[in-house]
Amino acid sequence: MVFVPYDRPVRAAIIGLGRIYDLNIRAYVGNPDVEVVALVDPSEERRAERQADWPAAATFASAAELAASGIEVDAVEALLPIPLHTDGVIELFGYGWHVNLQKPMCSNLAEAVQIIAAAKAHDRVLRVMENYLFYQPLHKLKEVAASGELGTIAGYHMKMVGSGSGGWHVPWSSFEWQLEQIKRGRGILVFDDGWHKLSTALWLFGSVTEVRAWIGTTSFGSGIDLDAPSMIAWEHANGVRGVWDITLAPDLYLRSDYYTNDERWEITGSKGFARVNRCTGRGIQQPSLEVYSDGEMRGHHALDDDWASSFRDSGRHWLTWLRTGEGPLLWSGDQAVDVLRFALAAYASSSAGGIGVCPGEVV
Ligand SMILES: NC(=O)c1ccc[n+]([C@@H]2O[C@H](COP(=O)([O-])OP(=O)(O)OC[C@H]3O[C@@H](n4cnc5c(N)ncnc54)[C@H](O)[C@@H]3O)[C@@H](O)[C@H]2O)c1
Repeated sequence: MVFVPYDRPVRAAIIGLGRIYDLNIRAYVGNPDVEVVALVDPSEERRAERQADWPAAATFASAAELAASGIEVDAVEALLPIPLHTDGVIELFGYGWHVNLQKPMCSNLAEAVQIIAAAKAHDRVLRVMENYLFYQPLHKLKEVAASGELGTIAGYHMKMVGSGSGGWHVPWSSFEWQLEQIKRGRGILVFDDGWHKLSTALWLFGSVTEVRAWIGTTSFGSGIDLDAPSMIAWEHANGVRGVWDITLAPDLYLRSDYYTNDERWEITGSKGFARVNRCTGRGIQQPSLEVYSDGEMRGHHALDDDWASSFRDSGRHWLTWLRTGEGPLLWSGDQAVDVLRFALAAYASSSAGGIGVCPGEVV
């Protein structure tokens, strides 16, 4: 498609006003590039609550009602439960709106093909937002790796501990659709959170040629089967190897303003290493980025390491893109399919006993 940037503020609607709305709107608040014209959610309570943020916006119980209202919309922020992504996004393109979709894009390749075909058919832009790529300590980590300061990059290690104590309130309704995803074999750790982690690997080191995985399950009853302990290892086309381990610590208290994820990222090079110590939660309270080389450890104390800022900057990037058409979308639809393939390769490997699987060959 030939995208023509908007020479006026983008008229936006927010579709889905649940938990993550609180962070997504940071890109919209006080942003002269956008005017929030509508809010959509079947929950009357949520509509009333969120209306206070945007008194001038109209509210609707469904996207169909908004489309029928005659209100002009250019682009939407789709904050829908994952099981609704495919049909929901196809519907949104049908109304002629560009879509900034939350991750994971969808759960399998057949759905991805349908979503991308719908964007093409309606000549609209699909972006699958990836806020971790806008988290300043990870940005700086990428810069350090590219600078040569660590020597030749050899390895990438991510660690994630899912804890069940602390953090913000997540309503049970936000978990209900996760149970549906679990039934489909798309767990909350490997697939939902994993979407971010695998994205960072592709963003830092490019395409992946082989994935090996060992995905476990811990059952808490009533269908709450969490996909850990799990280990995923891979090799990039440039030779860098990566590994991500996921551990559950249900009784571990983690101080966090958001979800209780204890996360770390570490890049090892031939003469040093660099490590991001935390992201969503406040696990290790040292500088969010530390760089070791030539016998010296340097701490980055002044980075914007509030996880919420990554939503602000990712959303602003999208709105600027709509005004200019310039730069990468982070992610485009096709790039999001690469993330999906990476995750699907991990599932295929694990179910075949940990054999190497090429993401480009998963069907
Ligand atoms: N980027 C991140 O780090 C991050 C973190 C959390 C969630 N998410 C993603 O954000 C999305 C939403 O997650 P959440 O935690 O806010 O879920 P949630 O359940 O809290 O909110 C979803 C909202 O969508 C509404 N909804 C349901 N059907 C709808 C429809 N047909 N039209 C409009 N609204 C509808 C629900 O009433 C609810 O208010 C998911 O895709 C999730 O994966 C991303």
